[in-house]
Amino acid sequence: MKEIVLSGIRSTGNLHLGNYYGALRKFVNIQDDYDCNFFIADLHALTTSTDPAALHASVKSVLAEYLAAGIDPEKATIFIQSDIPEISEMYLLLNMHVGIGELMRTASFKDKARKALGIATGDSQADDSEEAFEREIIGASTNKRVNAGLLTYPTLMAVDILIQKATKVPVGKDQLQHLELTRRFARRFNSFYGVDLFPEPTDFDFGGAPVKVPGLDGSGKMGKSEGNCIYLTDDPKVLRKKVMRATTDEGPQAPNSPMSEPVANLFTLLELTSTPEVVTHFRDAYADCSIRYGDLKKQLAEDILAVTTPIRERVSDILANEDYLRRVVRDGAERARARASETLKEVRHIMGIRPL
Ligand code: TRP
Repeated sequence: MKEIVLSGIRSTGNLHLGNYYGALRKFVNIQDDYDCNFFIADLHALTTSTDPAALHASVKSVLAEYLAAGIDPEKATIFIQSDIPEISEMYLLLNMHVGIGELMRTASFKDKARKALGIATGDSQADDSEEAFEREIIGASTNKRVNAGLLTYPTLMAVDILIQKATKVPVGKDQLQHLELTRRFARRFNSFYGVDLFPEPTDFDFGGAPVKVPGLDGSGKMGKSEGNCIYLTDDPKVLRKKVMRATTDEGPQAPNSPMSEPVANLFTLLELTSTPEVVTHFRDAYADCSIRYGDLKKQLAEDILAVTTPIRERVSDILANEDYLRRVVRDGAERARARASETLKEVRHIMGIRPL
């Protein structure tokens, strides 16, 4: 029996190069060797998305992007979270064993809640802002509220994982705390009821250093919210323009100078998408001060396009084939529900929700 792997991507827009190198491409590489389950977390997307049409469109585009990147529905189970009603029911049940305190202390909750309340993060003293934060949450008026779904986000994510009894969960660094909570909830449930129902999931170890995909704005990683990203479906004109506008510096002032972060980021992107020869060529040019960033960017744009163009073309073919999309998610939901309903049945029984 193959080990059960599960991972989800929230449907909050199109997928970018960071999603591709950080997740999709790795998923493709393991789909022969594991019982892979990849889903679109539309219920999680609802915690921050308020536009129904945008949510619906994004579910479809993320699905097409999964498939276009090479995830094979014959090998992996691909499904939409909301197609599995068992998840919503188990979310209610598991919440009975989750503390609001531990949820409020979760880093991602604090972040998103602060954003929702318009509290600045950073410079104010930690203690002060903690108290202000709690006061603001409790006293928040209805127009600046922190929705309860945001608070219970980790419960829902734990359910995604536990309902499939997945043991290996590929996630990014920002999701490790959620995975830690999942393990805690699993242990708590097992020991509270004296059962051995849930295995404790761990992060999937792909080996080697984690892939870092930087953004184009000179700092940090590529991410939707940062407006610094290259989407897999960007058309060539848009993509070239974005790359040409990427932040750089005034150029090396002396041979073999260290690189500034924005320039190092462009080299990181080049290393991901280009050949070793090209990378070496530009590194040498940087070292002897003959580099022209315009040339580097032109090359980088073409190399990125070589990666994204086949994906973009497949996305558009796949989106045009609605029957195929429906078939994929119908089959996926059927498989995912089979396991989910088994687990839910056990959970209900264990908790005392039993037929008369
Ligand atoms: N919270 C994850 C993210 O934002 C998405 C997600 C939801 C997920 N449920 C999951 C990831 C279960 C792994 C397993 O990236």
